[in-house]
Formats: sequence, C-alpha cells, structure tokens
Amino acid sequence: MLSWLWSTLIYLILLPALVLFGVRVLIKKRRGKLDLTNEVDIQGKTVIVTGASDGVGKATAEEFALRGARVIMACRNLQKAEKCVQEIRQRTSNGELIVMELDLSKLSSVRKFASEFLLKYGGASNPAGLSILVNNAGIFNPYGVRKVTEDGFEETFGVNHLAHFLLTNLLLPEIEKAGSTTSNPGRIVTLSSLAHASGQLNFDDLMFHKTPFVDFRLFSKFYANSKLANNLFNLELAKRLRAKKVNVNSYALCPGTVVTNILTEFRNEMPRDLYWLVFHVVGLLFITLSGKTAKEGAETTMYCSLSKYLTHHSGEMYRNCEFWDYSKRPKLSEEDAARLWEISEKLVKLK
Ligand SMILES: NC(=O)c1ccc[n+]([C@@H]2O[C@H](COP(=O)([O-])OP(=O)(O)OC[C@H]3O[C@@H](n4cnc5c(N)ncnc54)[C@H](OP(=O)(O)O)[C@@H]3O)[C@@H](O)[C@H]2O)c1
Repeated sequence: MLSWLWSTLIYLILLPALVLFGVRVLIKKRRGKLDLTNEVDIQGKTVIVTGASDGVGKATAEEFALRGARVIMACRNLQKAEKCVQEIRQRTSNGELIVMELDLSKLSSVRKFASEFLLKYGGASNPAGLSILVNNAGIFNPYGVRKVTEDGFEETFGVNHLAHFLLTNLLLPEIEKAGSTTSNPGRIVTLSSLAHASGQLNFDDLMFHKTPFVDFRLFSKFYANSKLANNLFNLELAKRLRAKKVNVNSYALCPGTVVTNILTEFRNEMPRDLYWLVFHVVGLLFITLSGKTAKEGAETTMYCSLSKYLTHHSGEMYRNCEFWDYSKRPKLSEEDAARLWEISEKLVKLK
C-alpha cells in the first residue's frame, strides 16, 4: 500500500512537476534580459504611464520610480491609483508618483488630461519636457458584446488605439522638447500584443457596425484589431517623426503572457463549452510554463523606454526585451499605417 502511494506520488505528481519546472526555467533562460548597465538616466525626468493602476502599468510606474523619475500615473480610477501609490511607497521612496485622471473611453478626458499636464508639468514650468510616454492602458472586451465609448467608437478600438493616438499627438511638443540629441531621444512606447496577428482592419467599418464579430476563438476581433492598430500607429508615427527630424523615437511591444486582470477577464467571460474546457487546460499549462508576473511583464516596456541599444531603432517592435521581426508580419503594411493615421486624425478631430 505504501509503495503504491510512493509510485503514484513520484510518477503522477513529482515527475510532471519537475518536468514543468525544468521547461519553465529553460523558457525563462531563453528570453532576453534587461541590461540595467545600459539604460539612459531617468532621474528627475518626467514620464507618463497610462493605466498605471493595475497589472503591467502599475509595475512599470514602480520601475520608473525606483530609477528616480517623476511618474505621472494617468488613471481612470483615482482611488485605486492612490492605493497603488501607497503600496509602491512601502517598497521604495525613490522618485515622485503623481496620480492624474485620464479616462480613455472619453476623448474629452484625454483633452482635459493633456491640458492639465501642460499647465502643471509642461511649457515654461518644465523646460526638460516629457521624456517618455507609455501608452499602456488596455481593455480586452473578450466576447461578443459591442460597447461604445462616449464618442461613439467601438470601445476597444476607442480606448486602446484612438484615445492613445490623440493623447500622443497632444503631448508630442513636450516629448520633442525632451529629445535633446539623437542619442538621447524622447520616447513613445505603445503596448500592443501578439494578438495583433489575428487582426484584420476593415477600413470601411472600423467600428463594427456591419462586420460580424461573434466569432471569438483565441482573441476577440475587437482586441486583435485594436492591437493591430497599435502597431500600425507605431510604424506611421516613427515615419512621421523621422520626416520631421525630431529626436523622438517610437516603439511598440508585446509584454508576453502576463498574469493580470486581462487574462482572468478573458477566461471568465468565455462561454462554458468544450472549447472553454480545452482552452482552460491548455491555457493553464501555457501560463504555468511561460506566464509572467506583472514585474516581468514590465521589463520590455522598461527596455524600450530606457535602453541605449534602441536609440537608433525607432518604429520597431519588441518582445521579451528582444527585437520582434516586423518583416514576418505582412499585416503591418506601410499603406495601412498611413491610411489608419489619416482616419484616426479625422475621428479624434485633430483635422
Ligand atoms: N496581460 C497580458 O498577458 C498582455 C498580453 C499582451 C498585451 N498586453 C497589453 O498590456 C497592457 C496592459 O495590460 P495588463 O495586462 O496590465 O491589463 P490590466 O491588469 O487589466 O490593466 C489595464 C490597465 O488599463 C486601465 N484602463 C482600462 N480602461 C481604461 C480607460 N478607459 N481609461 C484609463 N485606463 C484604463 C486599467 O484601469 P483600472 O485599474 O481602472 O481597471 C488598468 O490600470 C494592455 O495594453 C494589454 O493589451 C497584456
């Protein structure tokens, strides 16, 4: 009886756990790493992180604070954001953490945030400008319910892409001010996702008025399209910055599979069918093997924001602190990027 128990313990629990642990260590080892010795100095400089009240954004704010930056935490829920500040302050007293209200589902809030930022931390009061803007906040909208923002945009596209598009354009003069030389550019860092690969922008129906969307399998069409838009935005932004000859770089990134609210929301809102069961088992295995903590998830953001290696690599995309090859992604065409930029300008009334 005892030997049977031992065999069960060894073959069914200990051995698989050991294998899983070994594979996880291998996967982690193969990932690129942050090189702290090769970062630009951010001490006393101003950065903005959208959606800093949870997940990757909160971890990013903490990393910037640790390095002595003045971090503007641009959040929709002020109480929750203040709690994050208290939490971070228990771990570090470095840097400055300032909460400001920004609800990306309302363009009026984006404009209000930008003008308040300019008043308090821009213009003549801060000749150093805004060193880094991290367009981090995001929603997932996993399954089937089409919601709209205050301005009538499909919510995921509106929050993840259009609001960040407007925010970036409004803050650009301040970021240009910060970019002193080509080796010390201002930076715009936009969080995209691997999900962009299943996106398909229908330029005649970006808001899903006509296009069917209840065909969810791995990523919702809403989310995939918004993340594809994030990448196209990065491409076109970098091109325009180069043409303007300003010292500002733009990067897009995928943080990897990070265990945050987005993942739980994803699982909770799926319909309970066989696919849900298979997805749970495979998903659990995937997360066990390669899932990241929020701090690990923030590493690629810090890499794009601070690495000296990237000063001449504007417009590129990164994952696991490594270059993520665009050329293998035919959906990221320059024509689409230019077209999306023009449409976005009209939608947010910049033109
Ligand atoms: N987690 C992953 O595996 C994964 C993978 C690929 C890409 N990403 C990308 O990484 C980014 C961060 O995601 P996460 O995993 O950290 O998600 P998260 O934990 O759900 O955090 C999302 C953040 O965005 C904020 N937010 C949502 N809607 C907003 C709005 N209307 N206005 C202002 N802020 C809003 C949230 O605010 P509240 O705190 O008020 O909710 C929260 O602070 C997203 O862009 C996501 O697409 C994540």
